[in-house]
Amino acid sequence: MTLTQQVRNGWYLGAWSDEIGRTLKQRWITDIPVCFYRLPDQAVTAVEDRCPHRKYPLSLGHLDDQGTLQCDYHGYRFDGQGVCVGVAEQADRPKAALRRFPLVERDGAIWIWPGDPELADESLLPDTSWLTDPSWTHVHGVVPLRARHMLLLENLLDLTHETFLHPTSIGNAAVAATPIDVTVDGDRVGFSRRMIGIEAPPFYEKSCGLTSPVDRWQDGDFYPPGIFVLNIRVAATGTEEPDGFHMKVLYGMTPGRGNETHDFYALGRDYLIDDQELTEFQHEQQLAVMQEDVDALEAQEVMYATDPGGTAESSIKSDLAALRGRRAVAKMLAREQRAGGTRPRASA
Ligand code: FES
Ligand SMILES: [Fe+2]
Repeated sequence: MTLTQQVRNGWYLGAWSDEIGRTLKQRWITDIPVCFYRLPDQAVTAVEDRCPHRKYPLSLGHLDDQGTLQCDYHGYRFDGQGVCVGVAEQADRPKAALRRFPLVERDGAIWIWPGDPELADESLLPDTSWLTDPSWTHVHGVVPLRARHMLLLENLLDLTHETFLHPTSIGNAAVAATPIDVTVDGDRVGFSRRMIGIEAPPFYEKSCGLTSPVDRWQDGDFYPPGIFVLNIRVAATGTEEPDGFHMKVLYGMTPGRGNETHDFYALGRDYLIDDQELTEFQHEQQLAVMQEDVDALEAQEVMYATDPGGTAESSIKSDLAALRGRRAVAKMLAREQRAGGTRPRASA
């Protein structure tokens, strides 16, 4: 895999709503330093975190009660639209404005479009209403990952790895032994796996109070370049699919600086929603499973980064969704490059 450039004409999960307030927060997204903050009316704003004067990070500056952002190096001040409104050293206003990014804040998530603002299309975002639906509960957060975003994407599009990487929680032999169906719809890639009459993996046994055999359904949807939604259903064998236990996992796979990735997650369920103990158990398990993935992906990253010539890869049937995902991202990148809308990354 040689993809080391990042698509910018696409939505990425930039932050959870509860991460952003009246203090300045820096987060690198597709190699761009971004400064997030809220204006007095609570509207969230994201600007390039480089002062147009001498590039000092604006996130090291100050935000006043009126929503004016001050660079704390030489004092340039910017209004809520990012326009420079003055500097202490001289009476006339410097001609400068900050690059602002299209944002959508919805269901507790802040989505950012780092590329051409003209192309930002809200309809490309997945349905996240379950994050605020009162009949669901969820936990969320973000985990740092020192590996390129494509490795995380392939990890999520090929869940056969659960058998080998997560054998004490969500994986067992049935996952790798059950083939997937793959669908492609424009840039989107979906897969589904139906595991019928299988042994219940420990996480589902405890989460749903089920004993083997169970039926387990996995339906993954990749919204390129960086969003993945997994629909999970588990039920005693023979129960009709809609009557099972329902869970959803949303992953925001957001490229950061160089080959680092922000691994955003939200795990939700629609049963026993007031059971705090279950919520804590599921959150703990989610983080433990993600850490197993992070360890694997960081080890893999070293191997890709030290193999610039690209020794040949071998692929098998279960790679199909991941390969379609690669292709979708490569096509988006090619479109973007044809339009001249992206800059090469600083690092490979
Ligand atoms: S670098 Fe920001 S005011 Fe000089
Ligand atoms: Fe995993």
